[in-house]
Amino acid sequence: MLSTVRANPGLTMSYRAGVFLAACLAAQPGQAFAQTAPDPDKQAIALVQQMTPDERNLLLHGFFSRPNAINKLPQIGAPFAAGYTPGIARLGIPQLAESDASLGVAWINGKRAKDATALPSSMALAATWDMRIAYAGSAAIAQDARASGLNVLLAGGVNLTREPRNGRNFEYLGEDPLLAGTLAGETIRAIQDQHVMSTVKHFALNAQETQQSAIGVTISEAAARESDLLAFEIAIERGNPGAVMCSYNHFNGPFACGSDFLLNKVLKQDWRYPGFVMSDWGANHATSDALAGLDRESGEEFDPQIYFGAPLAALDGKDPAYTTRITDMNRRILRSMLASHLFDDPPKIGTPDIVRGEAAARTEADAGIVLLKNNGILPLLKTAKHIAVIGGYANIGVMSGGGSSQVAPQNGPALIIPTTMAADDWQAVLLHPGAPVKAIAARAPQARVSFDTGAYPAFSAARAKDADVVIIFATQWTTEGLDVPDLNLPNAQDELITAVTAVNPHTIVVLETGGPVLMPWLDKAAAVMEAWYPGIKGAEAIADVLFGDVNPSGRLPITFPASLDQTPRPVLDGLFDFQPSRTTVNYDIEGSDVGYRWYDRRGLTPLFPFGFGLSYTSFRYDDLQLRSEGNTIHATFTITNIGSRQGRDTPQVYVTSRGGARGQRLIGWANVELAPGASTKVTVDADPRLLADWSTQRQRWSLPAGRYDVTINSSAANVALTGSTGLEPRLLPP
Ligand code: BGC
Repeated sequence: MLSTVRANPGLTMSYRAGVFLAACLAAQPGQAFAQTAPDPDKQAIALVQQMTPDERNLLLHGFFSRPNAINKLPQIGAPFAAGYTPGIARLGIPQLAESDASLGVAWINGKRAKDATALPSSMALAATWDMRIAYAGSAAIAQDARASGLNVLLAGGVNLTREPRNGRNFEYLGEDPLLAGTLAGETIRAIQDQHVMSTVKHFALNAQETQQSAIGVTISEAAARESDLLAFEIAIERGNPGAVMCSYNHFNGPFACGSDFLLNKVLKQDWRYPGFVMSDWGANHATSDALAGLDRESGEEFDPQIYFGAPLAALDGKDPAYTTRITDMNRRILRSMLASHLFDDPPKIGTPDIVRGEAAARTEADAGIVLLKNNGILPLLKTAKHIAVIGGYANIGVMSGGGSSQVAPQNGPALIIPTTMAADDWQAVLLHPGAPVKAIAARAPQARVSFDTGAYPAFSAARAKDADVVIIFATQWTTEGLDVPDLNLPNAQDELITAVTAVNPHTIVVLETGGPVLMPWLDKAAAVMEAWYPGIKGAEAIADVLFGDVNPSGRLPITFPASLDQTPRPVLDGLFDFQPSRTTVNYDIEGSDVGYRWYDRRGLTPLFPFGFGLSYTSFRYDDLQLRSEGNTIHATFTITNIGSRQGRDTPQVYVTSRGGARGQRLIGWANVELAPGASTKVTVDADPRLLADWSTQRQRWSLPAGRYDVTINSSAANVALTGSTGLEPRLLPP
């Protein structure tokens, strides 16, 4: 039997019976809004026309709804939320109740939203390279949100990983614009399909937390359009988010939330974005930001004054530029509310479907774990008599990331370690429940499973010396608001691993980190597994992979550097400047060659390349056929499982030179699940923008003429097949 699945980014697959194929779901631009009836644009205009002068100011600013001193506007009836804008009952306009939600409905200053599903980090999601998993996780989050009375989710974080030390890397989807934009688009589409509005954030180039709200970013227009802006463009096309959240940083001069170029030109004019722009909390700096394209001031108490309150209202009807904008701002906000079904399908307070949420979290964690090294020790045999588990709070739970995205799962965290003196410590270290040591013991009933905190490396090594297997859990906590100063594991964990691997060669290292770390002990470890922040079912997922109940299939969405010297900025700008200062970061160093593209350009060998990940089986790629057609290239090839276990693979398609100019770019990938011996044929269609360059002069994408070299890889650095085809020079349609 032959079947064909059409997917996007352009995937055509045929497969034989017995071969399960994890294909990507297609999402056409405009799909979410197309379901909307009647016309949200017309309805929005009609509502704005009915507004009184006072009502014209109500939707344009919102506050942080929490019962403490910062909030100048305690409102009876407002749910605890990161953002709140009262509705206008006279016109039937609902309130906006907003929560952070990249990894689940967030912890709000001591008040857990309500039985939230704690998904793995977005970096773990990106490591699945799987659109269906992205969709399922975010659909579960949106249902939790509805059950908590929330109708807007501050989700869709898609800033590219330009800085491996960035404290928020765990909230984002890696370093490639196609991968990050595609997955972000699916998460947004899933949320909005549940009739909850989603954002995409933080627009744009907000790539480090150091000097977060003072930092200045410089980058050429072409480099920005080909990298970070492209990730947003793809996410917006696939997901149609109701709102775009502009970021804290300056962008080539003005603040991003006051950037006429970013908001009016790129977003609203070039991309014809129909929704509204909300500021990040504290990122609005002037009433005139409205003229630059900002539509809503968020978390207004974080700004020195409420710029979009009285000062903006005073200009309405007096200054034609502001009057026109205020009409447009209201229209855009209402349009997004209507298109996201906030009027006709309000959230109903209820009980979240914990079973569904946990199932989504488990699938994501299983598929996001990346096996980095395996000398054959994995999967673990169920014959070990003594398994020594060491470190990483593995007796308590699994690590999660701090800041506004922090989720407190059902029944609360397993452990909270404050990191500041504040009563409502938004940067506390939280461990999600589910102790890996228990999950391991449950899979190995024949073994004695011991636990040691790892606090004293020499002592831990002595205790673990004679164990049949040692599993060291190593954690790196990261948070919004802080970057890590270097890529070493903190708290002497490298010493611990070095000491233990020196006495016991059967040592497996399980990493729970926000992003890349250095591994000075790598050659001594028998196996290394990157589990990221694995969420509420993380302990089970780690045990699934350790014992082979799940065949690992995650692929790195970021490069792991061999040293900081390999990165574009070995010294993090502003790191040792402890006062807010206008530090400037020069992103033209790497330009659009973010991540693996930088390593390729410089001929550097990283510790682990982008796209890398091992399996308990092996795959072979054959029969590459390239076909150029119009503005794109179609790559068809066959994947065969040549090992002895069923497994899931993610072959990647890269262009490596265009018209004689070298340079590596991911142009697509496939997700396939194959039984031993089975093979399948896939076709990947390149997004033409990945084949093109942005011409600033012509303000269009431009395809260079000539030969295009294409490779089929198992990672950015592992080429399996090569081919070449030609394209005509042309400008892509606007
Ligand atoms: C973060 C945003 C978040 C907002 C509201 C800010 O600190 O940068 O991502 O949505 O807070 O919690």
